[in-house]
Amino acid sequence: MDNKDAILVIDDELAPRESIRMVLKDHYEVSTATGAHEGLEMMHDSHVDLVVMDIKMPRMDGITALQEIKSRHPDTEVVLLTAYASLETARDAIRFGAFDYLIKPFDKDDVLLVVEKGLQKRRANTGLKLERDILLDRASYLEEQVGKARSNIMTCYEGTVNALILTIDAKDHYTFNHSNRVSIISARLAGAMGVPERMIKEIENAASIHDIGKIGIEESILKKNGKLTLDEYTEIKKHPAIGVRIVQSVPFLEDAIPVIHYHHERYDGKGYPEGLKGEETPLSARIVMVADAVDAMMSSRPYRDALTLQKVMKELKENAGTQFDPEVVNVILEGKIPLS
Ligand SMILES: [Fe+2]
Repeated sequence: MDNKDAILVIDDELAPRESIRMVLKDHYEVSTATGAHEGLEMMHDSHVDLVVMDIKMPRMDGITALQEIKSRHPDTEVVLLTAYASLETARDAIRFGAFDYLIKPFDKDDVLLVVEKGLQKRRANTGLKLERDILLDRASYLEEQVGKARSNIMTCYEGTVNALILTIDAKDHYTFNHSNRVSIISARLAGAMGVPERMIKEIENAASIHDIGKIGIEESILKKNGKLTLDEYTEIKKHPAIGVRIVQSVPFLEDAIPVIHYHHERYDGKGYPEGLKGEETPLSARIVMVADAVDAMMSSRPYRDALTLQKVMKELKENAGTQFDPEVVNVILEGKIPLS
């Protein structure tokens, strides 16, 4: 295979066209064209590394042709041939992307020198482009790998969350169904409050395991059909801490910890386990707190009927600012999310 660089000489006059060809033919693959249109057609059909072209040609002049070549083949270098009278035009042509120009009558060594320099520039550009392409390829490969790793982590995350949810279900079916509904309501609340998409998903997952600590509470207390004694209530209040102990050994579940830990904190600071007040409690936990209460009120329990929607709204309104974050409650009172 011939690896010589391809040069195209475009000139309507035979003498300069041939003399340039003769100078270059031993070093390069040289073809010739008698005008810009013919040259452009040849470039369309076969690869050209560098064009040597006269500035003054009938039909399409060298400057117009130069712009045309640069727009169609930006990597191809162009050297212009000019008579001394058109020197200014040739200098201007550099602005349009010409590599250099040769003044007629030209010296054989000058022609070889300028053409070789033009080709060197083209090779350097091609090399840079190649390097850039390799880097871009590498970047998109890495991006793909990061995407795969992220999706594996998500699968792992969802699998773990599901395993925990099923563990709750095995122990207490009510808590399981309740947690699923709390998860849906929490995501809707977060969405309506303008929480970023990624955080909504975190809140949704955290809400579905917010009561995971109940695994560690005696079944007789969990399923008791009546008012809890003080001791039993003290026992129940341990579930946030138990939940935190369960999930803190799983690094990618750490986002769920604030919800598990603080979903019983009240807005007025009278909640548990730490008595946090107002915005001391993370937003995610304040959201799940409201969703938890809403679903509890709307569910029928062995010891009481479900509250009507009207009654739920009344409770929320009355307890906004004391038990509940008023901003979260407003989302429901203003009808921004469906509750069924
Ligand atoms: Fe709880």
